[in-house]
Amino acid sequence: MSKIYSKLEKCLKYIRKKTDFVPEIAIVLGSGLGDYAESAKLKTHLTIPYSEISGFPVSTAPGHKGQFVFATVNGVKIVIMQGRVHLYEGYDISDVVMPVRLMGMMGAKALFLTNAAGGINESFHSGELMLITDQISAFVKSPLIGENVDELGVRFPDMSEIYDRDLRNIIKKSAEELGIKLQEGVYIQVTGPQFESPAEIIAFKSMGADAVGMSTACEAIAANHMGMKICGITCIANMAAGISKNPLTSSEVNETADRVAPDFERLLTESIENISDYLNNN
Ligand code: HPA
Repeated sequence: MSKIYSKLEKCLKYIRKKTDFVPEIAIVLGSGLGDYAESAKLKTHLTIPYSEISGFPVSTAPGHKGQFVFATVNGVKIVIMQGRVHLYEGYDISDVVMPVRLMGMMGAKALFLTNAAGGINESFHSGELMLITDQISAFVKSPLIGENVDELGVRFPDMSEIYDRDLRNIIKKSAEELGIKLQEGVYIQVTGPQFESPAEIIAFKSMGADAVGMSTACEAIAANHMGMKICGITCIANMAAGISKNPLTSSEVNETADRVAPDFERLLTESIENISDYLNNN
């Protein structure tokens, strides 16, 4: 058995000692968006801090709590990562994607990724939401490097449709029904923790990126490798370096995420319900 898989099994065993909850949908809450886990819409069953799980990476990023929240929303069973682990915190890439893999092993069929990012596409505005259509992860080490975890997936997994078309359509429809404007675009992951230079943003734009952030793409690769259905929403927290007139700060990111929280919460709740209907009928 691969080392990574046996570590995951140990973590799962710990979770299973505490709860037999089998989530349908796994959700990762990005910078400043963690309050969703405390939304009145949720009935919380149990929370497990990452620090309780032996060998588990613990998030140190500001604006990120580090715990799994097991809950139901309108009757749909979900597990939330309230706070993710980032590469810039110094963890190995295989540890960064461990929580997402674990949520898949808990039984989640779909993964809903969220994040805050800088807008590269100049038709975007800070405070808008963007549906992720595809991603560029070529600047970040692949989470699949090393011995393949055969128990999870194949050595050379296909990545032609990382963000599931059906789930994307469901989220678009949910946004339309709620009257929430939803941009669409390609997310590029960088390591951070420094924000980008204007020259980097020009380069990323020419590559086809619409938004830049420090997470998500590696998680989507690991989840796709193990066959989860993936979707993602980005909160455009600021316009990227060189497009924005101001120096970038993490407080701007968190302020914008706070401002967007009510729409984000409505869209997430509606999409979860619609995705669950879809999963149960297909
Ligand atoms: N760049 C990278 N990551 C980010 C940004 C950004 O401009 N905004 C929020 N996360």
